[in-house]
Amino acid sequence: MPESDKNKTKMDNFKNRIDPAKLPRHIAIIMDGNGRWAKKKFLTRIKGHEKGIDAVRDVVEACREMGIAYLTLYAFSVENWRRPASEVNALMRLLKNYLLKERGNLLENEICLKAIGDLDRLPEDVRETLFQVIEDTEGGDKMTLILALSYGARWEIVKAALRIANDLKKGAIREEDVTPEMFSAYLTTSPFPDPDLLIRTSGELRLSNFLLWQLAYTELYITPTLWPDFTRKELMQAIEDYQKRERRFGMTSDQISELHAKY
Ligand code: IPE
Ligand code: IPE
Ligand code: MG
Repeated sequence: MPESDKNKTKMDNFKNRIDPAKLPRHIAIIMDGNGRWAKKKFLTRIKGHEKGIDAVRDVVEACREMGIAYLTLYAFSVENWRRPASEVNALMRLLKNYLLKERGNLLENEICLKAIGDLDRLPEDVRETLFQVIEDTEGGDKMTLILALSYGARWEIVKAALRIANDLKKGAIREEDVTPEMFSAYLTTSPFPDPDLLIRTSGELRLSNFLLWQLAYTELYITPTLWPDFTRKELMQAIEDYQKRERRFGMTSDQISELHAKY
């Protein structure tokens, strides 16, 4: 059997093991390890980021095909501004190119693009391109792709707290209105459900300031695979793993079984 057919059969096996009724509604990914991937191959870090974009394309396409409703990709953290200017500039250039190249694909696949983070810090031309693609893809209702850019969870939480304090001062809300649910509504992620599954590549066991509030009950999948080597096959593996878990949200296993029996 030719190699491509073998791969296809392997993919089909994975697909068969995934229960379409129990798909995570929202997958979030910390795409880490581009630099190490490049170093292993004696290439520049920028080459690693370039290769990482191919993995982004593959994963977006696979999520769309599977019917994942929301996909959030951590592409650039607020702390990443501290990297050497040459790397930051290259990342911004790659981001702009990605947006320009992907626009057609997003439209064709009815994917709506959104962005979270301190977007004012992005270079003007990148921000303009981003806002243009966001506007152009607004009607996409098959999947929402959320890019976390210049994003930091602590920045987001402080911003939400300040806005709440302001609304309290103005009398627009009362102290008793301030609940975890309403706090969520003040975050940049308010239109989206919390992630069900978080994937982090490159094996680091940390959140690196990503969605600290929203990940409270998210299932974690951490893989040593470096981001440029991450494929749809491993994505399926992560989903299969997720489907084997019991999400208890603080309750007992018996209570969860009873709930499942009811609905
Ligand atoms: C992730 O890869 C991409 C960004 C953070 C922009 P890294 O660049 O962090 O790769 P490593 O961690 O150095 O291998
Ligand atoms: C997290 O990766 C940010 C992104 C993937 C965009 P980092 O490489 O910046 O994380 P740390 O510095 O190792 O925690
Ligand atoms: Mg890293």
